[in-house]
Amino acid sequence: MNKYLVILLMVIFYLQCTNSPNDSSLTIYTHRHYDVDKEIFANFEKEMGVKINVVNASADELIQRIESEGDQTPADLLITVDAGRLVRAKEKNLFQNFNSSMIDSTIPDNLKDSENQWVGITKRARVIVYSKERVDPSELTSYEDLADGKWKNRILVRSSGNIYNQSLMSSLISANGEENAMNWAKGITNNFAREPKGNDRDQVKAILAKEGDIAIVNTYYIGRLLNSDDELERRAGNAVNVFFPNQEDRGTHINISGIGIIKNSKKVELATLFIEYLLSKDVQEQFATANYEYPINSNALSASVLEEWGDFKEDTLPLQRLGELNKEAVMVFDRAGWP
Ligand SMILES: [Fe+2]
Repeated sequence: MNKYLVILLMVIFYLQCTNSPNDSSLTIYTHRHYDVDKEIFANFEKEMGVKINVVNASADELIQRIESEGDQTPADLLITVDAGRLVRAKEKNLFQNFNSSMIDSTIPDNLKDSENQWVGITKRARVIVYSKERVDPSELTSYEDLADGKWKNRILVRSSGNIYNQSLMSSLISANGEENAMNWAKGITNNFAREPKGNDRDQVKAILAKEGDIAIVNTYYIGRLLNSDDELERRAGNAVNVFFPNQEDRGTHINISGIGIIKNSKKVELATLFIEYLLSKDVQEQFATANYEYPINSNALSASVLEEWGDFKEDTLPLQRLGELNKEAVMVFDRAGWP
């Protein structure tokens, strides 16, 4: 039977078992602010007859709000970007376990919490992009190599306050130990083309402006730049190529957007169905096409631009380690003087 049909039948069954009209709604607190998310939520409403209420804010604000609302919280689900924040929410005891054979069989263990308190919904890689004009890709190998003096004044990367960098640092601590990770951060700091500023896209624009030659960014930003309405952004996207580091050893650092069911939600079954819907093949392809993220369900196809970059070896470090090592990562950045 078609997976959608199974989900639909389960929803109908669920709705028959409940009598309060409130039970046919879900409230989602989300840090994601993409149009594709709105479309996907609207499709779920239409197909399943379930009203979706959305509250948008930063992950830290949402986590704080769920904490202060306690058992009065209207939130059934929390969506954030970066596993580090999902781990933070779990550590604050905000989630409850979900139980789903669909999730168990579809999502690799490293992309979800070991106790089924959160699971990824989309995947991204934090890669090296380099100037097509000024960098010979045969010189590139790994994140570690970017600390080498040959890259002096050439590296662009955002500040260490950003969780994407903190999670990358967690992965380096896990792979190489704290001391080596700190030496790496010092080496990168010595190679900065400029003081860290701006977001990932700004680093790529700075390559176009010849302020530096190499940047560390998430993959979907390159997809978005290449397809932007803004000519300058398209030129920035076209000025660089993507390089997947560490293909000879542990693989390229990946991260997720993810979701968990709020501890005080009374709608665990419905919330679980919603997660299964997000992970279904068609919805995964919708995320991938619109936002250039990698599907987390391996049956789904990637966006064509991602296909062009080709397959790559992924670091299979369980993503919950990124969050567990977050405090250490922040400390290492501090000691290394990476602002
Ligand atoms: Fe982002």
